[in-house]
Amino acid sequence: MAKNKNNKAIWNTRIKYNTSSLFQKIGNSIDVDKRLYKEDIAGSIAHVEMLFKQKIISFKIKNKIIYGLNKIEKEISNNKFEFKKNYEDIHMNIEKRLFDIIGDEAGYVHTARSRNDQVVTDFKIWIRSATKKINTSIDKVIKSILNLAEKNIYTIMPGFTHLKNAQAVSFAHYLMAYVEMFNRDKKRFTNSLDILDENPLGVAALTGTSFNIDRNYTAKKLGFKRSTNNSIDTVSDRDFVLDFLYNSSICSMHISRIAEELIIWNSDSFNLINLSDKIVTGSSIMPQKKNPDLLEFLRGKTGTTYGNLFAMLTILKGLPLSYFKDLQEDKELIFKSNDIILDCIKILNEVLKNITPNKKKMFDLANSGFITATDLADYLVKNHSISFRRAYEKTAAIVNYAEREKKNLDKLTLEELKKIEPKLSNNVLKVFDLKNSVNSKKSYGGTSFDNIKKMIVKYRKQK
Ligand code: ARG
Repeated sequence: MAKNKNNKAIWNTRIKYNTSSLFQKIGNSIDVDKRLYKEDIAGSIAHVEMLFKQKIISFKIKNKIIYGLNKIEKEISNNKFEFKKNYEDIHMNIEKRLFDIIGDEAGYVHTARSRNDQVVTDFKIWIRSATKKINTSIDKVIKSILNLAEKNIYTIMPGFTHLKNAQAVSFAHYLMAYVEMFNRDKKRFTNSLDILDENPLGVAALTGTSFNIDRNYTAKKLGFKRSTNNSIDTVSDRDFVLDFLYNSSICSMHISRIAEELIIWNSDSFNLINLSDKIVTGSSIMPQKKNPDLLEFLRGKTGTTYGNLFAMLTILKGLPLSYFKDLQEDKELIFKSNDIILDCIKILNEVLKNITPNKKKMFDLANSGFITATDLADYLVKNHSISFRRAYEKTAAIVNYAEREKKNLDKLTLEELKKIEPKLSNNVLKVFDLKNSVNSKKSYGGTSFDNIKKMIVKYRKQK
């Protein structure tokens, strides 16, 4: 329940009884939305500057209000501010404190606005800067990936489909698939900023206002490209909240896929990477264990980011226009997803600095499972003028033979190969060399060493 300087509810003249303590407990959001204090104060300062410019409030009142708001900002920043649950939210807590500091003239700050436009303004500004922070931290992960990739251009591993050996790839190329995922995340976050870039301030409760305000002025002051077009939509719209939650969900899904992959590679069965002691934990009963708990944490957190997206989608489904208290849930969901993403990105960055590929194991695994079979089929097409489908059949026959003989393809002699395809010459043997195989994929985006080097340079230059 919000109170004025006489410790009475702002709506006390109208509503006779105090809000029930249970409702106060459930309905207050101060513990969550106090994170918006800077944005709330910036919004209020822009608002009163506009009110003065439009001759709605006097110079003296404007200055007094700005003085009070700046003082409140310092108090909050220095942990000297007492947040009160009975003042419901950050907007009311600040307004109430303004009364304490400057007296009755604080009553002018809420001219021509409502908490409904105020909260959307604060929130959009907050999400805008949170988005930029997330993108900066994604950049750091990309850098770590590139550092690891640079050291592993010639590290050869099996590329999998269906988790079965498919074709040999460079470990660096594999890692840089993650760079593409993160680049898309950054773009997705950035794209959402354009939709969000509209100033809500001044639509008041839902209809706009009869005061002669200048919304373009506050838009400019608060860094918005333009003002929203429809007052009712403005206070009802939380699409920008969904965008952020969706973007966070995809980003955390990417992190989860990487984490799962690293867990598999770290398993005793695969043993393709080692995790340093900094990023593993032990078992309370099995003394030998080094578990990849951190990676599991990254994978598991995706459940919460998806949950937050679905919570918001559900809140909005069927909600009529315009403002309802249901919408207040949006802050908690966004803050949680934001914190998870930032934590997970930081942890992933730590992980990437603490993994080493087990190069021999990678190579040996790549050298099994007839992984160069496609290279042989390609060779037959290029050197023996047959169609790919025909070459596929001949190669399959050779693979069947090797399997019967329990031999790798590179262990077959020319004589053995000639039993199936008599036209083959010594030249064919080089297709079974893994390094050759990797380096032959020179098509744009492929795993050849030259491509990888060029991509590293390109990624390092990107903004
Ligand atoms: N704390 C509220 C929220 O976050 C602010 C808007 C309140 N508006 C209202 N009419 N009750 O949604």
